[in-house]
Amino acid sequence: MVFEETTVEGAQSSESGRRSKDERARALHGAACGWLAMLGVALAMPATAGAGTGGGAGHDVAARRATEAARGFVAHGARGTADGALRVLLRRHGVGPARDADFAQASPELVALGNLLFYDKLLSGNRDVSCATCHHALMATADGVSLPAGVGGRGLSTARAMGEGRERVPRNAPEVFNRGHVAFTNMFWDGRIERDASQPSGFRSPAGADLPAGFASALEVQAMFPVTSAAEMRGDPGENEIADAGSLPEVWARLMDRLLAIDEYRERFAEAFPDTAESELGFEHAARAIAAFEATRWRADGSPFDRYLRGDRSALGREEKRGALLFYGSAGCASCHSGTWQTDLAHHAIAEPQIGPGKGHGPDGDEDFGREAISGDATDRFRFRTPPLRNVALTSPYGHAGAHRTLEDVVRHHLDPVASLEAWDPAEAMLPVTGDEETPFSVMEDAAKRDAIADANELRPRSLSDDEVDALVAFLEALTDPRMLDLREEVPPRVPSGLPLAD
Ligand code: HEC
Ligand code: HEC
Repeated sequence: MVFEETTVEGAQSSESGRRSKDERARALHGAACGWLAMLGVALAMPATAGAGTGGGAGHDVAARRATEAARGFVAHGARGTADGALRVLLRRHGVGPARDADFAQASPELVALGNLLFYDKLLSGNRDVSCATCHHALMATADGVSLPAGVGGRGLSTARAMGEGRERVPRNAPEVFNRGHVAFTNMFWDGRIERDASQPSGFRSPAGADLPAGFASALEVQAMFPVTSAAEMRGDPGENEIADAGSLPEVWARLMDRLLAIDEYRERFAEAFPDTAESELGFEHAARAIAAFEATRWRADGSPFDRYLRGDRSALGREEKRGALLFYGSAGCASCHSGTWQTDLAHHAIAEPQIGPGKGHGPDGDEDFGREAISGDATDRFRFRTPPLRNVALTSPYGHAGAHRTLEDVVRHHLDPVASLEAWDPAEAMLPVTGDEETPFSVMEDAAKRDAIADANELRPRSLSDDEVDALVAFLEALTDPRMLDLREEVPPRVPSGLPLAD
């Protein structure tokens, strides 16, 4: 299949491609270790702490014992304490196994429709970009580069070139795992889509009062927006009728006209929404189908860590447990990466480098103020949403602008964010094929702008030994769900518009 070959060739054609293959190899290794652990190779570790941790003073005592035990375990590798200590720490941070009832349920017809829409370039103004361009099966639902090339680009992932005269998308394309879980009440690096009972639609979004009602999740609402972004899918005025639409409702209506002009889509919408007359169908129905596909296909709660949370103590190996104890204990990761998906869904400033064109903020318009642009609160400047971490070993590069290539790099950045920001090397960026004249590092080259990012940092420096960093990385690798390693079967052989899947 051409779709496959394009990327595989591209991945081999550049240095960064090799790095990303290394990442994947490490992830596979991590997953393989998880499997070995499940086969019983890992050390059996009886619980010692954790009894009587219901709450109140008893809880504090148990928690202190657990922390002490964790420290002892981490320092001396003492046997027999890891599971009990970890159990208490996990409970304290609200980390439990994902439950079926907490995932969105959908009919197979709805999922199948969403799958086709996700891969169909008909959704973009110039018919040249699909959702999968930036969230594709070969790159674990992301795109493998720091910042995407959207409208006008050609190729996939590390082989994707910018279109002439186009701007890069200003933020890193995140992975889309587990977003159908009830916990995900907001979307985007700045949380600009979020549940909000005070809004008529139940959600706050860039569409304000124009957002249709009836959405069940932030994920469904999210799928309304990539098609409205000039750089991602819509194109520029004068190029096509979607870009020329005068309002968001008009964008959505014109896209729906495109879709329903195709018999196969009319039939599939009728199957997916049997109770809705064709005249009542809007782009919100397409969005619901897309979300159903994302939620169902990319439910990823089968990692060694998930098995551990379900009670299989042998699912994690010794090094991975050591990493988990650090993560939930003395390394302090879980103060932000909390809950089942390792995110508080809140916004924090950790001095991640900013590269690319920016979001139009600051005097030169090349900065990205993050959450402040949504909340209007100056203390939110340079805060970005804590990313969830399932399958994180598969989704390099990291950070809101994709400025770090490896897990080790981004973990080490957390240990001294300001020093790391100052020492950042543009070679860390993965912008292999540019094809335009932009200067993606204008913010990093400006001492005053860099200082502003550094001043907002909330993370105090911590010192961890190399061994401890290795253990943290081993734990992060144990977050890989082996079922997500190869997603190629989700790529449809063709889409109803007849447009090519490959560039
Ligand atoms: C040109 C690249 C590009 C295309 C095409 C694209 N996306 Fe994205 N996607 C991104 C980027 C970049 C972000 C993060 C933007 C931000 O946070 O400001 C994102 C964010 C998301 C998120 C939010 C995840 C989270 O938890 O915050 C979801 C879900 C998503 N995209 C789904 C889609 C769907 C569905 C489509 C097609 C309708 C699509 N994307 C098309 C690049 C793209
Ligand atoms: C103060 C809150 C906070 C703490 C504590 C924290 N993180 Fe983060 N982490 C974040 C935020 C916010 C980002 C994204 C920052 C950005 O892009 O601007 C992030 C990014 C990451 C990423 C990159 C994920 C991706 O998909 O881009 C990894 C991996 C990570 N953190 C691991 C850790 C580990 C390991 C620790 C403990 C040593 C830790 N974090 C501690 C808030 C935190």
